[in-house]
Formats: sequence, structure tokens, C-alpha cells
Amino acid sequence: MTHDVYTVPIRTEPAYDVLVGHGLLEECGMRIRAVASDCRVMIVSDDAVYALYGEKVTRSLEDAGFRTDAYVFPHGEASKSTERLIDLINTLAESGLTRTDLVLALGGGVTGDLAGLAASLYLRGVRLIQIPTTLLAAVDSSVGGKTAVNLPSGKNLCGSFYQPSLVICDCDVFGTLADSVFSDGMAETVKYAVLKDPALFGAMEAFERGGDISGIVAACVQMKNDYIVHDVQDHGERQFLNLGHTPAHAIEKTSGFTVSHGHAVAAGMMIMARAAEKMGISEERFSERLGALLARWDLPLDAPYSAQVLAQAAGADKKRRGSSITLVMPLAIGHCVLYPVQIGQLESVFEAGTR
Ligand SMILES: NC(=O)c1ccc[n+]([C@@H]2O[C@H](COP(=O)([O-])OP(=O)(O)OC[C@H]3O[C@@H](n4cnc5c(N)ncnc54)[C@H](O)[C@@H]3O)[C@@H](O)[C@H]2O)c1
Ligand SMILES: [Zn+2]
Repeated sequence: MTHDVYTVPIRTEPAYDVLVGHGLLEECGMRIRAVASDCRVMIVSDDAVYALYGEKVTRSLEDAGFRTDAYVFPHGEASKSTERLIDLINTLAESGLTRTDLVLALGGGVTGDLAGLAASLYLRGVRLIQIPTTLLAAVDSSVGGKTAVNLPSGKNLCGSFYQPSLVICDCDVFGTLADSVFSDGMAETVKYAVLKDPALFGAMEAFERGGDISGIVAACVQMKNDYIVHDVQDHGERQFLNLGHTPAHAIEKTSGFTVSHGHAVAAGMMIMARAAEKMGISEERFSERLGALLARWDLPLDAPYSAQVLAQAAGADKKRRGSSITLVMPLAIGHCVLYPVQIGQLESVFEAGTR
């Protein structure tokens, strides 16, 4: 079966394309030739992803005339550490990678964040290609240029803004994702639909795993472009992308990061949806429709903690500005507003959002 390849131009400075389609891993070498040629490529991947797709990507790159090396690290969030970052940068140096060569991130958000930060630092920046292999990485982390590793005092505290030269998203690779990892991505995907696109929400209600998700991914990436293009540094429009994320970060942190990001975002969106309903500012029964979609992906609709505990954790969030914090209030499917509150009001908002 042949499918279309969507090309979504990301109009940041520098600009780049996101390709979304099927069978793109086999063609990645040829696709990358459009932005670079005859150079070396350091493939950065975790052990699980490399075992599944490393050979296919390597073969495609070599067939297209690239010389390849690989840096493979243990999968999991623990690899987003400063130790791992320095080890990767040392490997880039020892292998003699130059400024005209490429770093290629093949994996989920952990790989993209780690490889992206290393690429931004090594030689003050070498070109980066992202090949996201989780749904979350495809619709979120591989686009927009945020890179980071974690510090003992918090997640993503050591990072940079660094745009890739090309993003290649082959939706075939989602077929091997564990159900809960696929669902993590669905939570972020639903977020885009709630923010701006009732038709996309409808498409997601009709979607079943195994169906063609490439059109949905391309729509999300286009929307991410629209939010970040005038706000790469995250001071204005980009804040909308934090829908559900203030309670979500509090849930993740309180759980010691045993609750995954996507699962926390689902619960966080439900808290905000119910709060907006209780405050009488949102469409009637909006949270019911949202909850039904999230529940289909076995995503949680509640936080496992009290409003008080969540508010305390959120008060220490890095997105906080002085004594206030900007929440994103969903008013209907496809319509949200920025809603600044004092830190002291957070508990009552979360309380209103609790079932
Ligand atoms: N930079 C950003 O803008 C941004 C945005 C959102 C999240 N993030 C970061 O992304 C990370 C989470 O991303 P993630 O959920 O992709 O995590 P991940 O990279 O750890 O991937 C999840 C798991 O799935 C496995 N996996 C990946 N692709 C696979 C495939 N195709 N088939 C089978 N298994 C596969 C991985 O080995 C891993 O065990 C967090 O560290 C988060 O902070 C960054
Ligand atoms: Zn998120």
C-alpha cells in the first residue's frame, strides 16, 4: 500500500521540514541527502530502539553514501543525565566528528533530548537529524528545539534551544510500541485537538490502534509550528502547549516520576476541564467527552493525590513566574484560554478539578 508523505515546514530560525509518513526508515538516507551529503553520521539510540531499527537506518544511510557510527545507551529516563551527556560528547570527540558531520537521534523523547543537547554543545553545534520513534516524540519532543538532561534537583533543568535540520517520522515504527507508551503519545495528541481543532478531536475519536495515524501526527506537528513559530523561547503563545501540564508536572514530581508524562498529562487535562466546568466558564459536558476519549487509551482521569499536595508541588514549578502562574483553561473542544492565577489560588482550582 502506498501512502502520502506529509511535509510540514517548521518556520523557526533556522527553518526545517518534518516528514511524516510510512516506510520512511528505509528511505532515510536518501531523504537526509536533501540537507547533507557525503559526511559522517553518529546514530544515537537506546538499546531497545537500536535492536529494532538500527540496522535498517544504518543500511539506508550507507546506501546513500554516508559513513555511520553508533552510540547506543541503556533505555529509560535515567539516561537523561549529565554523566550520559558528557559520555556521548566524549564519544563524538573521540570519533573525530567534525562540524560538517551529523548527529542522528533515533528514538523517543529521551534519545531526542539527550542527542539534541549533545549536538548543540559539541563544537558549539553540529547538525542534528531527529527520527522520532514514539508517538510522543513525533508530535512533541522532536519538534520545537527544546533539548535537555535532568539534574538531581529536577527534570530538564540543564538544556538548550537547538533546532534540528530535518525530522523524519515513520509511523510504521509505532507498531512496536508498548500499549502504555503509545497511550502516552495519545495524551499529547488529544491535547492539540482540545487546544484548537474540533475536527482533529473527531478524527481521534474514530481512530483505532493499527489505523493510519500519519494525518493526525502531521496535523499536530503543524499546530506545534503555529504555537512556537513566534515564541521559540516560550514566553507567550507557546504557553498554550502547557494545557494540563501544571497539574501533570505536580503529579509526576509527587510520584517520584513513576507516573509517566503522558499519563500525568491526561489526568492534568481532566483536572483543568472539570475546574473550568465548575467555574461555569466551559461548555457543558465537555469533560465527559474528553474523559471518554482518554479512557479508551487506558489513561487516568484523576490524580492519585489531593489538591493540596498538587498545589504545593506546582508552586515549585519552573514555569512559575514570581507569585503567579499561567494555567491553560479549556473552555470547549478546540478552544482554550491562558488564565494567570496567584500561587495561593492553585489549590482551589485543583480542588474544583477533583471528582
Ligand atoms: N524536548 C521536548 O520538547 C519534550 C517534550 C515532551 C517530552 N520530552 C521528554 O521526552 C521524554 C519522554 O519521551 P518518550 O515517552 O518518547 O520516552 P522514551 O524515549 O524513553 O521512550 C519510551 C520507551 O519506548 C521505547 N521505544 C521507543 N521507540 C520504540 C519503538 N518504536 N518500538 C518499541 N519501543 C520503543 C524506548 O526504548 C523506551 O523504553 C521525557 O524525558 C520528556 O522530558 C521532551
Ligand atoms: Zn507534555
